[in-house]
Amino acid sequence: MKNTVSTLLKQKQTGDKITMLTAYDYTTAKIMDECGVNSILIGDSLGMVMLGYENTLPVTMEDMIHHTKAVARGAENAFIVADMPFMSYQVSVQEAVINAGRLIKEGNANAVKLEGGAEVCEQISAIVKASIPVVAHLGLTPQSVNAFGGFKVQGKSIETARKLVADAIKIQDAGACMVVLEGIPAKLADIITSKLTIPTIGIGASVGCDGQVLVYQDMLGLTSGHIAKFVKQFANAGEVMRQGITDYINETKAGTFPAQEHTYAIDDAVIEQLIREENE
Ligand code: KIV
Repeated sequence: MKNTVSTLLKQKQTGDKITMLTAYDYTTAKIMDECGVNSILIGDSLGMVMLGYENTLPVTMEDMIHHTKAVARGAENAFIVADMPFMSYQVSVQEAVINAGRLIKEGNANAVKLEGGAEVCEQISAIVKASIPVVAHLGLTPQSVNAFGGFKVQGKSIETARKLVADAIKIQDAGACMVVLEGIPAKLADIITSKLTIPTIGIGASVGCDGQVLVYQDMLGLTSGHIAKFVKQFANAGEVMRQGITDYINETKAGTFPAQEHTYAIDDAVIEQLIREENE
């Protein structure tokens, strides 16, 4: 069954947790969809995990559309959310609507996601008026890395906690259909979740959120280097890949790959005739 804004809202109402994972390509999206994940996010985290940038800021609309199209081809039932990259919605409401429209028309996404609270409410309502569902994103919003002075947990002081609660209500009033809460204290995420009628999706937030999201390379053990505290590694796919690649290198060098079962046969008569002709 296709996941939609209505089925996801129903999940909040019935207490059925929403599962969301990032994906950036056809093959991964197909596997996730077959496993039954509710929603796939083509996050601008692709800048880091797929393109090797230091942060999400260099990601372009063309990058997002390219990867969103691939995911949409692989996912039949998951609700597809595409991130709006840095500077694709901040400059003007008109540009925000045009770029959101491109992610739906060209990328085949079901919804777009953008970062920020009160300051992006005008963009949220204009995009929603164009019949495009919007997922908001509050807390440790990675596109604000320079403004925050690094990737730091948000909402720890009374002022910032108060602002996050107020922002959550404002983005809901502006028409957002869901909100990602990233890198905020668990008890604050619980308060926000209890105040909103739209689902909250946590990442480094709380088990009390209506759903969870993780970057798939992190949760499958494909990421090397620093791993955030909130990441649980559910599998060590990195180790499986390393072993497979090493075995391939060793067998190719040893001449044991390809074996006979990996090659195609031909009638002896054809080969004999070919050799005769070559020797004439
Ligand atoms: O870009 C991304 O992957 C995200 C998630 C971390 C929520 O925004």
